[in-house]
Amino acid sequence: MATEAIACDDLAIGHDGRAIMSGITFTLEPGRILAVVGPSGCGKSTLMRALSGLDDPVSGSSRLLGQDLTVASAVERESALRRLGFLFQGSALFSSLTLRENVELPIREFLAPPRRELRQLAEYKLSLVGLADAMDKLPSEISGGMAKRAALARALALDPEVLFLDEPGAGLDPVTAARMDELILKVREAFGTTIVMVSHEVPSILRTADFCVYLDTDTGRMGAYGPPKDFLAPSSHPRAHAFFTLTHRT
Ligand SMILES: Nc1ncnc2c1ncn2[C@@H]1O[C@H](COP(=O)(O)OP(=O)(O)OP(=O)(O)O)[C@@H](O)[C@H]1O
Ligand SMILES: [Mg+2]
Repeated sequence: MATEAIACDDLAIGHDGRAIMSGITFTLEPGRILAVVGPSGCGKSTLMRALSGLDDPVSGSSRLLGQDLTVASAVERESALRRLGFLFQGSALFSSLTLRENVELPIREFLAPPRRELRQLAEYKLSLVGLADAMDKLPSEISGGMAKRAALARALALDPEVLFLDEPGAGLDPVTAARMDELILKVREAFGTTIVMVSHEVPSILRTADFCVYLDTDTGRMGAYGPPKDFLAPSSHPRAHAFFTLTHRT
């Protein structure tokens, strides 16, 4: 078994072969929570897609659960995807499907269990996130906080070893956001899941993340990597420090 869940070395990410952020180098052990931070448009979502193998990086290498994504075949990528969960920015629930059907979808696609088992698996995941009473609702019938939790239930559908969460707390009031943090920590504790999450919410990052990667738009390179508390120190990376302290006064 690989000792690290994610390892990237001098990774450059972008679109159509053009790099928007480069020099991304770090390793993350299984069961750790990593926060990806940086100004809007710096490439956080693009990095998540590259780390998960959904998109190709521009250059450099990236390993996920021991698999080198840059040389992986389509079949190997597919089997890596089976071990991941993804909560997309904006939740991206299918609007014509109920919450239960949204969670059933990946289970049906990858495991194709008998109908009753499928239903039970989806119901279990929805009750984990506190949506037992809303399973038959459509996305248009629920609040933003409930949509985030439903998207988390769908990301958990296949018992992922690595969970990618793109702004799970964005747009939530502080109390609901704190509940989302608790849920993320509960998932890690219960299943040992490795979690990579994009967040702009400093209190949430300080509560949940073991490490933080700061993408620096001023240089177009990874600016800093380390435990979030380190960035509260004035001697830390200046723009990472500003991100942590301008938005959050201790
Ligand atoms: N599919 C795409 N094709 C081409 N360019 C893209 C594509 N998706 C994003 N971009 C560009 O890549 C850059 C980084 O986008 P990305 O969505 O990764 O930023 P982000 O850090 O997640 O921003 P935000 O905080 O607003 O979510 C932006 O300039 C964006 O316009
Ligand atoms: Mg984004």
